Amino acid sequence: MGKPASSAVLPLRFASTSVSPHQSLSGTVGDGLGDGDPLLPNSDPFSSGPPSPDGMPSESGNDRPGSPPLALDDNSPAPDAPVPSPIINVSHLTVRAGKKVIVNDVSLDILDRQVTAIIGPSGCGKTTFIRTLNRMSEVSPGLTVTGSVKYKGQEVYARAVNPVLLRQRIGMVFQRPTVFPMSIYENVAFGLRLNREDEDTVERKVLESLRRAALLSELQDNLDRSALTLSGGQQQRLCIARALAVSPRVLLMDEPTASLDPSATQKVEDLLYELKQEYAVVIVTHNMQQAARVADRTAFLYQGRLIEYDRTKKLFENPREKLTESYVTGRFG
Ligand SMILES: Nc1ncnc2c1ncn2[C@@H]1O[C@H](COP(=O)(O)OP(=O)(O)OP(=O)(O)O)[C@@H](O)[C@H]1O
Ligand SMILES: [Mg+2]
Repeated sequence: MGKPASSAVLPLRFASTSVSPHQSLSGTVGDGLGDGDPLLPNSDPFSSGPPSPDGMPSESGNDRPGSPPLALDDNSPAPDAPVPSPIINVSHLTVRAGKKVIVNDVSLDILDRQVTAIIGPSGCGKTTFIRTLNRMSEVSPGLTVTGSVKYKGQEVYARAVNPVLLRQRIGMVFQRPTVFPMSIYENVAFGLRLNREDEDTVERKVLESLRRAALLSELQDNLDRSALTLSGGQQQRLCIARALAVSPRVLLMDEPTASLDPSATQKVEDLLYELKQEYAVVIVTHNMQQAARVADRTAFLYQGRLIEYDRTKKLFENPREKLTESYVTGRFG
């Protein structure tokens, strides 16, 4: 099960509010986004600190004999590799829609520079869970969130936090590409223009983001073309470039390859490997092979509860919980 809370949990209750993703980005006095706030652009005063000793379930113990359901490369780090530090701490997170509990008392740490997969059967709360990490859940009507989500030690649900700025730090890529009906260039420049970056900075960041999203070489001759003329796979990478342009630290991806063909899927998966060198990536997927290929850690949700969270290899080959084993071996879901 999820890690026990290591610190006091702030009991928070938030009525759902409608938040426009395009609301003003400027943090003003009284926003609580003063100096020293990690949600200010270009400031990162809170180092992630030493790795939390209870950031993950123990590597040892609970090993059960049995034939592995999926043969995986061993993606465990070398014994002397530094332990990745948590960038997001989720503690006793519960999401309700009226009386219905959609996410039930979930506690886990998302580690920096790692890919974390969220798996589980349809309707188990995967999308709802990742949307709480950057307060996108506030855009859905009728949801109540309790518990705690901390980004670099700061409570993201604190009243003072600007949700738009938060969503730049914790960006999101959706199941279907969400390109805007404008040029390729302007799609990537979108958030930069909201931030009122100067033209030189916009150009530099647009080109850099397209390069990181492995699109620049394909498209550089014609960035004025309408983004709507791109293939589905290119549109999805464009959405990734748009998220990267505003300097995120975490990328949330909700089934980003669900609408893509195998070749476009491969490109996005290759990209994940590059992205995790600099970002924490959280990916929801229904595809067990994909989770096994791309994820360092995997969390299994079932009926809103976190059943198991561990290194991907461990979770697939030697899970602690019977329910996990049944799911990863395809016995249900
Ligand atoms: N705003 C809402 N109001 C009421 N119920 C909701 C709301 N959002 C989600 N739900 C319900 O919560 C449950 C979990 O939904 P969610 O989209 O998180 O599941 P999921 O695991 O992502 O499923 P899938 O794999 O099919 O995408 C579903 O039963 C859904 O109908
Ligand atoms: Mg979903």
